[in-house]
Amino acid sequence: MTFSSVVEKFSRNLPLTGEDFLFLLTGLTGAEEARLYALARETALAQFGNRIFIRGLIEISNICKNDCYYCGIRKSNSNLTRYRLTREQILSCCEAGYPLGFRTFVLQGGEDGAFTDDWLCSLLKEIKSRFSDCAVTLSLGERSRESYQKLKQAGADRYLLREETADFAHYQKLHPRCMSPRRRQDCLFTLKELGYQTGGGFMVGSPGQGPEHLVRDFLFLQTLQPQMVGIGPFLPHKDTPFGDCPPGTAAQTVRCVAILRLLLPKANLPATTALASLDPNGRQKAVLAGANVVMPNLSPGEVRDHYSLYDHKAHSGAEAAEGLRLLQKQMEEIGYTLCVDRGDSR
Ligand code: 5AD
Repeated sequence: MTFSSVVEKFSRNLPLTGEDFLFLLTGLTGAEEARLYALARETALAQFGNRIFIRGLIEISNICKNDCYYCGIRKSNSNLTRYRLTREQILSCCEAGYPLGFRTFVLQGGEDGAFTDDWLCSLLKEIKSRFSDCAVTLSLGERSRESYQKLKQAGADRYLLREETADFAHYQKLHPRCMSPRRRQDCLFTLKELGYQTGGGFMVGSPGQGPEHLVRDFLFLQTLQPQMVGIGPFLPHKDTPFGDCPPGTAAQTVRCVAILRLLLPKANLPATTALASLDPNGRQKAVLAGANVVMPNLSPGEVRDHYSLYDHKAHSGAEAAEGLRLLQKQMEEIGYTLCVDRGDSR
């Protein structure tokens, strides 16, 4: 196998094999690696130009019924102030974000039982009536098909649900037994079927992960063909069972972004907060490897620290207009610009 034979498959839109992905992850020379990033960047530029979509992230609750071993808001973490935003607080976040140029709001939270279908549907209808030119993305974990369907009818456009790792055995090492990798993957196929712009994704460098597991993720995403993929490095959180595990690396994360861009040329790929938390230049590096989205934080200042999935979370975002200007400056430094756009999947 050679680098050019794999690149050829990408350009002819042929499926890659596990060996192909493994080669990209572990077999490239320095020069080939640089070429990989350049190709990924060119692919993104051809699709999106130098425009970066912004999504306003609203962290609506850190209450979660799950107990994932890596996650700081896991049920068993008693060392955390729990919160849930009110409907009015969430709407205020949107009101604050709109004039800043946000045309997508991402409502993300733990699997909080208070988010009934009725409550969420009513909220979605209100957001869509006040901000009719905006998209709403939900990221609220696993729900039933009926629930996903109701939320879609109430106006949700997109749904983010990372598979976390597509390798079933590895999944079981990251989650308690009651959580099922099959169910999670089924949710993703259901969301796609229901017409959501659907986002999968995984953590890079999570405990026990080797390149063979990342290969499984690429193969899974090649089959799923999601419209969005979010990836970031695993970062330890001190109040979790993985608190002493080493973090993933920025280099491996950026390599995965580049591979994803070549695999899914039209997909929306964020330069994630986790990557920015690990490396101050992480966002720029991801964009230069094919990412086309950033997701600044629109949550109220007083809860932002409580939404702690991992330690040392970057205070990136558009905390205010000033944060957004800073992000714009970062992007300008590398020849890109933030844009006011819903940024639907193409
Ligand atoms: N490190 C990095 N990412 C994490 N997430 C949760 N905990 C961590 C962690 N310790 C990610 C998961 C989840 C997303 C919202 O945050 O991939 O899907």
